[in-house]
Amino acid sequence: MIKSIDDYNNHYKSSVENPKKYWKEYANNFIWKKYPNKVLAWNFNEPDVKWFEDGKLNITENIFERNENNKDDIAIIWEPNEPDEKNKIFTYDQLFKEVCSFSNVLKKMGVKKGDRVIIYLPMIPEAAISMLACARIGAVHSVVFAGFSAKSLSDRINDCSAKVVITSDGNFRGSKVVDVKGVVDDALKSSQCVENVLTIKRTGSDVSMERGRDVWYHNQKNLVDDYCPPEEMHSEDLLFILYTSGSTGKPKGVVHTCAGYMLYTQFTFENVFQYSKGDTYWCTADVGWITGHSYIVYGPLLKGAKTIMFEGVPTYPDASRFWKIVDKYNVNQFYTAPTAIRALQSFGKQYLEGSSLKSLKVIGSVGEPINEEAWNWYNDNIGKNNCPIVDTWWQTETGGIMISPLPNIIDCKPTYATLPLPGIQPILLDNEGNEILENNIEGNLCIKYPWPSILRTTYGDHKRCKETYFSTFKGYYFTGDGAKRDDNGFYRILGRVDDVINVSGHRIGTAEVEDAINQNIEVIESAVVGFPHEIKGQGIFGFVIIKDSSEKIDYFNSIRETVNKHIGPIAKPDQILIVPGLPKTRSGKIMRRILRKIASDEFDNFGDISTLLNPEVVEEIITNYKTLNN
Ligand code: WT7
Repeated sequence: MIKSIDDYNNHYKSSVENPKKYWKEYANNFIWKKYPNKVLAWNFNEPDVKWFEDGKLNITENIFERNENNKDDIAIIWEPNEPDEKNKIFTYDQLFKEVCSFSNVLKKMGVKKGDRVIIYLPMIPEAAISMLACARIGAVHSVVFAGFSAKSLSDRINDCSAKVVITSDGNFRGSKVVDVKGVVDDALKSSQCVENVLTIKRTGSDVSMERGRDVWYHNQKNLVDDYCPPEEMHSEDLLFILYTSGSTGKPKGVVHTCAGYMLYTQFTFENVFQYSKGDTYWCTADVGWITGHSYIVYGPLLKGAKTIMFEGVPTYPDASRFWKIVDKYNVNQFYTAPTAIRALQSFGKQYLEGSSLKSLKVIGSVGEPINEEAWNWYNDNIGKNNCPIVDTWWQTETGGIMISPLPNIIDCKPTYATLPLPGIQPILLDNEGNEILENNIEGNLCIKYPWPSILRTTYGDHKRCKETYFSTFKGYYFTGDGAKRDDNGFYRILGRVDDVINVSGHRIGTAEVEDAINQNIEVIESAVVGFPHEIKGQGIFGFVIIKDSSEKIDYFNSIRETVNKHIGPIAKPDQILIVPGLPKTRSGKIMRRILRKIASDEFDNFGDISTLLNPEVVEEIITNYKTLNN
């Protein structure tokens, strides 16, 4: 573990001068079924990246068998939605048995190495258990956030031809009980590939079970053994697929493979959180996102850490819930998103009264740029000016944290993710692809050299992976983010430079929302942009052209409902403006930059609009916008 600034400098230097040696040494920390001799083969043009190609391993063996001496340590503390309900605590030994039983149930259902399994679950222990069970038997999991609609779910099921879906009867979320199994049933009306649905009982809600297809997990669990041998995996075999939105088309299945992901999540977890044995660590994300994969499940468990999984939401029963949980378990490392910080800040300080928060040593932020005000509030009220804030920049595609301070080693600076971790070689390029050598100038953030958990492909469509990440700047991985560097070499991430909106730390593609809006029968065409939103970071703004109608229609709610149905609640536009036309170039492309300005309350400085086909429409849109906002 990196313990000082000299350590960091030495690590960084050797990781850049001799990356293969650096990562090979780190690989010695793990159990290999076959020790790898080849460390790295790569080519960013194809792209083709292989780490530890000739090695064989199983990631769960590195969680359970490797940590066998600590088998009575606590692995997962599960905190339920209702504060009065009893929590569940799993030691490594108990978790191991749960995972093995689950593996054996999957095997009995005919799931084999390489088969895809969709996990559509609330934040219950089985979410982590089922992921690990897949990994144990070499099946490829693809977790879908349980807030996604039936349509989004079936798109993902079909894209990866999943054989099994794992779900639950329902989801306790704040004061609501959300139907989960019903969404799966709906999704499966348009999916042919799924043979079985394995359902976990959580809420006790009435659900319909289709004979021959649907099975209750609790009935199966008692019929199987609680040991399952680990499947031998090649380093580059698929570990999981996780779907994420881009600027065009449908979400793509980001592929991560076994060995590299294992090394890098453990490495970043231990260094960024400076986790020491006995510490209690809590990441508030949902396992449906990469943060949950890497920093609730894999990273902490590989390290043998004690990790908290929370079923509920930050504001239930009230806005003191997070802080009560921190005190209840004496949390030492706490990792959350700026949107949660801003939301809790907005409820007022009275919700902090009665919580000491004195166990905290490190507090973290992830998912979107953290604004200075939120940073200061977090620092003063949660960290009590006594905990380094790790502002961690990374992506679904990077698998693990890329740029972040190391607590008490690298200084924290509000709104700066600061320095790259060992093995990460960032570069800023201008729009022509030239390296920006000066400091304090914004550029496109790219990475020069592979790190162990870089995405390998987008499932079923390698060309898309190449075009999205490796073609804009030849020879580099392009992150889609803008960034600048200060005189200390600290990086500040400025946000997406493509048509991706970051809503509450979740990536939403504008094209996807437009497609959904256009499904509304009243809609002719739409354009979607992000705009600054106090709590969410960015909100979704839809400019919509509608059909002539003599009826009085509540367009706002009707369109939001359409989006809800097609994608899910997270993609519902915050604002909708009915417009007579959209600003387009002569080649028919929507000039979003104009709409972005208008949605941010700016009505001039539109830049070069000489290629605009219909400049008059801009004035009309502004007039409508001003009317809407008065
Ligand atoms: C995008 C990736 C990585 C886990 C959660 C989101 C933005 C992420 C930061 C940060 C500024 C950040 C970027 C990135 N982002 N962390 N610390 N500072 N921006 O994963 O859904 O794949 O989104 O989130 O724009 O590209 P994701």
